Amino acid sequence: MVASLRAIVLAALGCRMLGTSPLLSFDSPSADALPADDAFWRLYDFSFPSSEREPRSVILESLRNGVGFAIRVRDGACTVGLAIVHMLREPPVLFLVYLAISPELRSRHIGTDLFEKVWAEGAERYRELGRRPVGIVWEVDIPELAPGEQEIRQSRRRIAFFTRLGAQILSGPYFQPPVNGIASVPMLLMFRPAPGSPIPDNSGFRALIRGIYFEKYHEANRIPLPVVEDLRREIETRLNLPSRG
Ligand SMILES: CC(C)(COP(=O)(O)OP(=O)(O)OC[C@H]1O[C@@H](n2cnc3c(N)ncnc32)[C@H](O)[C@@H]1OP(=O)(O)O)[C@@H](O)C(=O)NCCC(=O)NCCS
Repeated sequence: MVASLRAIVLAALGCRMLGTSPLLSFDSPSADALPADDAFWRLYDFSFPSSEREPRSVILESLRNGVGFAIRVRDGACTVGLAIVHMLREPPVLFLVYLAISPELRSRHIGTDLFEKVWAEGAERYRELGRRPVGIVWEVDIPELAPGEQEIRQSRRRIAFFTRLGAQILSGPYFQPPVNGIASVPMLLMFRPAPGSPIPDNSGFRALIRGIYFEKYHEANRIPLPVVEDLRREIETRLNLPSRG
């Protein structure tokens, strides 16, 4: 009964029942196509807590003005994976804002393939602008701050997934600005350098924070300048604390 109801809902969305070996494709939707993709938005809402979800209008606007792009994983006409990316100008680093795979398809290497698609597509877009990206960055939750045992395990699995992709956690402090307009969230930044590029040093880390805060969260998300300035100052203060021991 429950399974057949699910089949009806999926069919209404243009989705098959996801079975053993779906035939998947990747595409990069336009800002005009995305609003009507219900499966995309359901996966987005399901995969991220409301405190970490930015308004849909911010995502669509970044696609429209070319500072961002999205990649979908599709099973026929049904979206089963998504990535949303912002291309920083300075430093030229891809900021992977969201990455998610439908729960029933996880642990089949699809997330890994999607991550590599994001990198290839982003590098191509920078090349078209006459630039070369020096890496890709994203935010992850701090496992120790997760509310329960299961969330802690999940958070560690997520970090393990990205570590296998060749990334590492940057050692500086970080806060995600209030994307839902309410509160900032202490998080970690992970980074994978382009082949031949280094992991950011102290000044590279500061440049990355400036790019993320001003180009992404202030210019694209329209978070007021004093809010991102305060967070940046807080990070500076913590970076300048004498290290213990
Ligand atoms: C992280 C995620 C994109 C990985 O996609 P995937 O298709 O399962 O990835 P792969 O099959 O290539 O790799 C599997 C690994 O992903 C991680 N993973 C899978 N499911 C996970 C989950 N529910 N939570 C956290 N990590 C998970 C694990 O490290 C897993 O390896 P393991 O099974 O040996 O523990 C996917 O789990 C997801 O959508 N999670 C929810 C959203 C999210 O946390 N996004 C990342 C931050 S933007």
